[in-house]
Amino acid sequence: MSMSEYKMNTNTYYLVNKVIIDENVEFFFNLYGKKSKEEDLSLLSIKGRKLVKYDIENLLDYNYLYVHEDEKEFYENHYNDFMRLKLIPENMKSFYSTVGNTVNKMFENPQSLKNVTEVETIVNDMVSTILHDNFSVSSFITILASDYYTHTHSLNVTVYALCLGKHMGMSKKDLEDLGVSALLHDLGKSKISDSIINKNGLLSEHEFNEVKKHPMYGWALARQLGITNKSILAGIKNHHERVDGTGYPDKLIDEQIDIFAKIIGICDVFDALTTNKSYKNSTGTFNTLVMMKKDMSKHLDGKIVNHFIGVFKEEMNKVQQNN
Ligand SMILES: [Fe+2]
Repeated sequence: MSMSEYKMNTNTYYLVNKVIIDENVEFFFNLYGKKSKEEDLSLLSIKGRKLVKYDIENLLDYNYLYVHEDEKEFYENHYNDFMRLKLIPENMKSFYSTVGNTVNKMFENPQSLKNVTEVETIVNDMVSTILHDNFSVSSFITILASDYYTHTHSLNVTVYALCLGKHMGMSKKDLEDLGVSALLHDLGKSKISDSIINKNGLLSEHEFNEVKKHPMYGWALARQLGITNKSILAGIKNHHERVDGTGYPDKLIDEQIDIFAKIIGICDVFDALTTNKSYKNSTGTFNTLVMMKKDMSKHLDGKIVNHFIGVFKEEMNKVQQNN
């Protein structure tokens, strides 16, 4: 008889994958264990109890852990949820922190960037991650930092922009260019005083005029880095333009605004509304999308907003199909 199954009296037990033994986890099934093949099974944990450090050490001491046949289904459900919710976001967490650190450095000292190669390397990794079937924008949202900093914001906007571009059917090369533009879109803020950038509450007119210079500063910095691609530059310079011509710095109208700038502008608004800023509470994903569609139609390109909603719809469908 294989070790994956164990019969005792008239009962059958199934071997459990130990990966699920984790702190603060609660099982809806009992665990049975034995330390060697020859031993009989003993009952180890009572269902419905939250595992603490002591329980984990105790459980991992047993070489073989089993679940009773009557509760096998609960175990399998738990295992599947665990893999989906725990392991995939775990990958994303490390991805997010590695990229985040590099982007952080970049904003602290843009002059340290010799050229655009470093940015391209990060972006190419991000494009591969996002093109991977397992990538889910919702799991990404759950790990977003709750604080609003320029570098985390830039990273979020990049992920959203790439998901949106992918949904719109862009080529890998276009996604890579879009990613560079999105990651650098607020680089110009590094030229503006921290006291203005990090100010809580409303800005004075003078302060707001300073903030409005960041797209131009960013555009200049990007050119210094050797970027010549027109769309990448437009994404940086024109992400605050609005389709009715009320944006800045060039007061462009609808068709004059580059598609990169429109995409980045939409993702920028979305992240600003869904991320906690200290002076206002964040709005949920669904409400934000509704607000963007209904109340911001003069400012944002409706067709691209529809695509953005499509990104989230697609995920909802995936989740439904899996259940
Ligand atoms: Fe901006």
